[in-house]
Amino acid sequence: MQQFVTVNIDGFFINATKGNSVLDTAIESGICIPHLCHLRSVSDIGACRLCIVEHKVNGRSKVTASCTLNVKEGMVIMTDTENIQKLRRNLAELLVAQAPNSRAIQDIATRCGVKEVRYPFKNDNCVLCGRCVRFCTEVPNANAIGFVGRGKERRVDFPFGVRPKFCNHCEGCVQICPMTFAPCDGPMEPGKEYLCGKCESQLRFAEELPGKCVWCRLGESFDCARYP
Ligand code: SF4
Ligand code: SF4
Ligand code: FES
Repeated sequence: MQQFVTVNIDGFFINATKGNSVLDTAIESGICIPHLCHLRSVSDIGACRLCIVEHKVNGRSKVTASCTLNVKEGMVIMTDTENIQKLRRNLAELLVAQAPNSRAIQDIATRCGVKEVRYPFKNDNCVLCGRCVRFCTEVPNANAIGFVGRGKERRVDFPFGVRPKFCNHCEGCVQICPMTFAPCDGPMEPGKEYLCGKCESQLRFAEELPGKCVWCRLGESFDCARYP
């Protein structure tokens, strides 16, 4: 039998399903918390940290990733404090610096209020969010890809770099990868580091409608739960 708890998110009392994450609860209730590595119906690992929120533990405020934080009776959660906005902007800047050639990530950064990036661009082709690996393991149950290597060498690959027979070519891993939405300008060059996020992006409305949902279509398989 489903059990419910009452939580307070951004001042709203919400009847949440026990066992659900704060992120899922917020999204289902129409409260947008920016997120990247979270994928609906797939386990969360808290890789990108973009979904951080503040919540009170024994009267003290704590910053935690909301996708790996389960709701508890009486929990008080703040998703958009000044502190959270600042931390989230920095995380988004780091993601853009890592992979400026992803429009999805540029859009998330714009959504988080990033106007410029203070870190050198790397043009990596993966941000190690793990969406593809978890999708492959938990949706087609193929287990055909995984993380290999350490530190700077860490990447996603097939076992021994060869596509195994048990990969069913569903292409789900490609479709849910934030790197598949390339920006019009392609990879950035040193000295030409900027954040566009406007061309063909829903986020061009972000400046015109501050504080309103701009249908960024990110996070939930790039299809927000609020707009199924
Ligand atoms: S294409 Fe292969 S590796 Fe990718 S999700 Fe499907 S089964 Fe997994
Ligand atoms: S390949 Fe794409 S989905 Fe997989 S970890 Fe890298 S950025 Fe994430
Ligand atoms: S850490 Fe929660 S969505 Fe990435």
